[in-house]
Amino acid sequence: MRIVRRVTELRLALHDGRRGLVPTMGAFHEGHLSLMRAARAQCEQVVVSLFVNPAQFGARDDMGRYPRDEERDASLAEEAGVDVLFVPSPQEMYPEGFDTWVDVDATGGEARARPGHFRGVATVCLKLFNLVRPDVAFFGQKDAQQVAVLRRMVRDLNVGVHIRVLPTVRDAAGLALSSRNAYLTEAERQRALGLPRALEAGRTAHDPVAAARAALNGLEAEYVELLDVDGATLLTAAARVGSTRLIDNVIVEGELA
Ligand code: PAF
Repeated sequence: MRIVRRVTELRLALHDGRRGLVPTMGAFHEGHLSLMRAARAQCEQVVVSLFVNPAQFGARDDMGRYPRDEERDASLAEEAGVDVLFVPSPQEMYPEGFDTWVDVDATGGEARARPGHFRGVATVCLKLFNLVRPDVAFFGQKDAQQVAVLRRMVRDLNVGVHIRVLPTVRDAAGLALSSRNAYLTEAERQRALGLPRALEAGRTAHDPVAAARAALNGLEAEYVELLDVDGATLLTAAARVGSTRLIDNVIVEGELA
C-alpha cells in the first residue's frame, strides 16, 4: 500500500481499471473496514482517503478531540487490501484562496442540527471524486443523510461516480459502530443503546416515529424522523449521550443499494 499526501503524488499513483474510493476521516473500525473489503472485492484499484475535514465541523463540534491514529489506520487499511491511502493536509485540500463551495439544498434532521455540515461534506467529496476519479465510492448506511446529499450532488452536477451504500456495522449489543463511540464511558454506552433499541421498536410499527419516540427509555432525541433515500424509507434519529452526539437509522421500507 502506498501512502500519498500530495495531489501530484496521488495522480501518479492511479492506474487504469475499475477504481473504488472509500472516503474517511480515519479512526477505522469494522464499518470502515467493511467498505474497504467491498471495494477490494469489486474494484481493481482501491483508494482510501483519510482526512479530518475542517469544513464539515461547526463551532460547537468536536474536531479538536476527533480520534486520530494514522499509524494504526494505515496498518488496518493495508490488511484490508487497500492500494493507496491518501492523507492530505488541510493546506493540500484547502490551499490559500480556496473559495468554492458545494451547497446541496438538504432538509432533514442532520441538516437542521448541523448548519453548514453538508456543505463541507459535499465540497470535500466532490474534490475527492475529481482527484481520484473513482467508478464507485463506498459509504455506510449509518450516514444515510450524507448519502442522500451526495447522491443529490452526483445527479445534479453529473458526476460520473456510483455511490454504493453498505449496511451499518453494529457491535454485539446493537450499537452502530462510529469513531465517536470511543468518547463514551461504559455507563454512557449502556444509555446509548437506547437509540438502536428505539429504532428497532419503530421499524415494524404502524407509526414508526411515534413508536421509536415511545421506546427511547429516557434518552433525549434531537430528532426522530422518516427519510426517503431513492425510494427506501429510513427511520433516522440523533441523540446526545453525555458530550457525544450519536446518529443511527434503520430501513422501514425498500432497499438501499
Ligand atoms: O463520513 C465521513 O467520514 C465524512 O463525512 C466523509 C465522507 C469522509 C467526508 O469528510
